[in-house]
Amino acid sequence: MAKEFKRYLVTSALPYANGPVHIGHLAGVYIPSDIYTRYLRLKGCDVVSVCGSDEHGVPITIKARKEGVTPQQIVDRYHALIKKSFEGLGMSFDIYSRTSSETHAETASAFFRKLYDEGKFIEKTSMQYYDEEAQTFLADRYIVGTCPKCGNDRAYGDQCEKCGSTLSPDELIDPHSAVSGSVPVKRETKHWYLPLDRYEEFLREWILEGHKEWKTNVYGQCKSWLDGGLQPRAVSRDLDWGIPVPVEGAEGKVLYVWFDAPIGYISATKDLTSEWEKYWKSEDTKMVHFIGKDNIVFHCIVFPSMLKAHGDYILPENVPANEFLNLEGDKISTSRNWAVWLHEYLEEFPGKEDVLRYVLCANAPETKDNDFTWKDFQARNNNELVAVLGNFVNRALVLTQKYYGGKVPACGELNDYDRQTVSEVAAVKASLEANIENYRFREALKDAMNISRIGNKYLADTEPWKVIKTDPKRVETILNIALQITANTAIAIEPFMPFSAAKILGMLAAEKFSWERLGAMDLIPAGHAIGEPALLFEKIEDDVIQRQLDKLAATKAANEAAEMNQSVEPQKDTIQFDDFQKMDIRVSTILEAEKVAKTKKLLKLTVDTGIDKRVIVSGIAEHFTPEELVGKQVLVLVNLAPRELKGILSNGMILMAEDASGKLRLLQPGETTNNGAVVG
Ligand code: MF3
Ligand code: ZN
Repeated sequence: MAKEFKRYLVTSALPYANGPVHIGHLAGVYIPSDIYTRYLRLKGCDVVSVCGSDEHGVPITIKARKEGVTPQQIVDRYHALIKKSFEGLGMSFDIYSRTSSETHAETASAFFRKLYDEGKFIEKTSMQYYDEEAQTFLADRYIVGTCPKCGNDRAYGDQCEKCGSTLSPDELIDPHSAVSGSVPVKRETKHWYLPLDRYEEFLREWILEGHKEWKTNVYGQCKSWLDGGLQPRAVSRDLDWGIPVPVEGAEGKVLYVWFDAPIGYISATKDLTSEWEKYWKSEDTKMVHFIGKDNIVFHCIVFPSMLKAHGDYILPENVPANEFLNLEGDKISTSRNWAVWLHEYLEEFPGKEDVLRYVLCANAPETKDNDFTWKDFQARNNNELVAVLGNFVNRALVLTQKYYGGKVPACGELNDYDRQTVSEVAAVKASLEANIENYRFREALKDAMNISRIGNKYLADTEPWKVIKTDPKRVETILNIALQITANTAIAIEPFMPFSAAKILGMLAAEKFSWERLGAMDLIPAGHAIGEPALLFEKIEDDVIQRQLDKLAATKAANEAAEMNQSVEPQKDTIQFDDFQKMDIRVSTILEAEKVAKTKKLLKLTVDTGIDKRVIVSGIAEHFTPEELVGKQVLVLVNLAPRELKGILSNGMILMAEDASGKLRLLQPGETTNNGAVVG
């Protein structure tokens, strides 16, 4: 028997306030959490949904430094932007708080202090990188060096963004400080650690035995963490941005962002209601964490261990983490600007909030990574929202206006087909509920859409526009049923598409129905006057989609150009003019070219240097055909000491440039020049 709960506490991962929110965040976390919360509210449950900005952590300080502003300015900017764009999309958090708030500092400090006082931490000193020039310890992110796995010379101390490997600062080749550029030294520093190993037994029991119903991706990750053995985790950092460690002798140290952020759920609830303890301290509360897969360890292992150590708080009942959403086949990336940003979408698609909500839910990465494409967005809008949902609602309302001046006709005797239709609609409720309650939101959305599919089919099969000529009485029943189905649609889609649900209710001139009424056929009484029908959705044309694709193509091009820049070799050591003068470079013409037998790379070239005609062997056969070289003017280093290649004496070197992709280009005089002309 599943446990009965009296109330719900829904949390959604606190987004970092160092950038805007994109569709990956929405599909992974916020759309599912909003659907779940709206559903519970419609059912009349006692539910609070909390979220807020995660305003600490190193990336925020890096961004601030880059822009020459304070971290507070950064988080103020993004907190405002994220909050506003969430509202724009209809996210219905009861509170959208922030971790730079007073309440949060107090709550997180008290949490730490309790664990500290009760001896739940261990203290350890270790050697960490220190920047002597900037006089600061360096967070992993602040150390840049060469990746030992792929050779990328811009890898960070915690991760290489090129090959995706997780790194530790010690693995970096040639580490230097991102703050000052200097080479860091190792220095001793003391930190507090939460000994996760002490919670292993509890976690095994609680998750592996007690929560076998968790999603397989979540359960699997937990199991592999636990099977791998848990280590103590540092919960403090040497940093000047964050909540000060509330302990004597901890100057310059702050709480690790992953220690304070989840406590943000508690502070947000405190900011919301004086009855916050009812949500956090009662076993009657069902707490559900909505997160993305990169947050699983923190919400299933670390935070529960913290809660357990603290002792006053409940544990999550479920953590329905989603996988990742890709964009047009590529990983979404904030740093590469490969994303669809929520605030931009809202600006570019006003009135289409529900379209995004619909597509992201229909395509949510619930069990595996998924891909968002603009073509799919268009197809789902045109073929599902416009053609099914919009079309059905519109037909029901327009026909009622047309035949009955907007007065709901009475329902007469039902025939078998009517009864079948009515029972199909009624059957949706159970399935829809089971799907939402088990976090299968894609399936749940299909159920909700099914109601208008049933309605569409009903109108297509009963053909009231034909029957009106022969049996107007029958049409009254048909349209009454169609209007009841329309009202049912408004109930069922509300958690997913609240704007459209409200529009339908407006057109029906009806008040919001409770969830329990789903399936009823007496929602709209006969004689009731409905409002003016308007289109719920409109077709999205190709040019609109093309504009978005062009925008992404421009991003891709900009990224490629930036990458090319990145791979430019650093300048060589300084030389004197005399050093340069030693080189004798002449304009020459290639007279003959042929492949050197039994080699892949070598070409034997005969060139006219103006001084003489000579042979040069060059390793460029994979880049040029002999034919394309003959007759070309090139630059030749003529006083390079001769050397023998495959038995042929090579007497000089053709100058070339190698571009970022490794392609070779001939260097040529801008205009035809006499052979032997001196370059210098
Ligand atoms: N800011 C984190 C992220 O975006 C999520 C924090 S969730 C919380 O990955 F529980 F720590 F608040
Ligand atoms: Zn790498």
